[in-house]
Amino acid sequence: MSNLLEIKNLRTTFSTMQGKADAIRGVDLQVKENEILGIVGESGSGKSVTMKSVMGLLPRSAKVTADALIYKGEDLTKKKEKELRSFRGREMAMIFQDPMTALNPLRTIGYHLTEVICRYRKVSKKEAEAIAIEMLRQVGIPSPEERMKQYPHEFSGGMRQRVIISMALCCEPSLLIADEPTTALDVTIQAQILDLLKQLKQDRGMSVVLISHDMGVMANMCDRIAVMYGGVLVEEGKVDEIFYQPKHPYTKDLLRSIPRPEVTRGARLQAIDGAPPTLHNMPKGCPFATRCQYATEKCFEIMPETRVFSDTQNAKCHLLTGKEE
Ligand SMILES: Nc1ncnc2c1ncn2[C@@H]1O[C@H](COP(=O)(O)OP(=O)(O)O)[C@@H](O)[C@H]1O
Ligand SMILES: [Mg+2]
Repeated sequence: MSNLLEIKNLRTTFSTMQGKADAIRGVDLQVKENEILGIVGESGSGKSVTMKSVMGLLPRSAKVTADALIYKGEDLTKKKEKELRSFRGREMAMIFQDPMTALNPLRTIGYHLTEVICRYRKVSKKEAEAIAIEMLRQVGIPSPEERMKQYPHEFSGGMRQRVIISMALCCEPSLLIADEPTTALDVTIQAQILDLLKQLKQDRGMSVVLISHDMGVMANMCDRIAVMYGGVLVEEGKVDEIFYQPKHPYTKDLLRSIPRPEVTRGARLQAIDGAPPTLHNMPKGCPFATRCQYATEKCFEIMPETRVFSDTQNAKCHLLTGKEE
């Protein structure tokens, strides 16, 4: 499958009160045409910042550099800021965990949708309304004509996330980035929203990047998975490779931390011991070294090279003996 997006050596640094913080430390990642790519890792590992760097959604305190960001064959790092903004607006959309923050409580749902449609398409208000109703129908909102006139607080959490998804689809993006889209929802609703994303990907042939801290969510959804830790992409592979032949000690720990139905109720979940490093005390070498039971001196000092295990799977760990890239 060809690449829709190819990220080469992405680095993002924040200027903070305590000095410079290297949040993303050289990430290489591809998003293929018509796939769901999962990005997984604990909170603070750099999942959101990676994709916000590509989207241009970070505050001014962030410095983003990359050797290249190739999207549909064009290098985005070569584009001018203004051109880039409208290009991103048409091609990519990103949705977040809390749909309420993206909606104005004083405006109707119809207002939100027609506003986005008129921004990106040359249509009359009437046409925009017709498109909006059709979008709501496509994301599974019943009686969309009536729902257009209602306000955000009249929608449940799940229905609000559907509205946000329909807004993201208005400009017909080729890439949809869903950042923890179901974390705030209860389990049944979570499954419905994930099903919707999967179905939309199939119907529209778009690519989806699904960000989650939950390995359980990844299993049913993704074609490929990228595992992040401490601003580094520590392992990537097809979903089967990650679940059945994980290589990196961190990936293995993440898999052990998935709650299992067969575990008796009340039994303790196996969480990963220790806390992730903060940006200000990051080891020079492997970011996982401070929590890895196998770490040696070398792990703390030297960043591991990428080891390749198949055309689709690779990991960064000194203890692994795959081919060198
Ligand atoms: N605006 C910011 N200023 C300073 N540091 C930030 C900012 N946004 C994120 N970070 C830091 O960057 C790191 C990665 O964050 P993020 O990508 O949001 O993690 P997650 O994997 O949970 O999405 C974290 O250590 C976070 O504290
Ligand atoms: Mg995040």
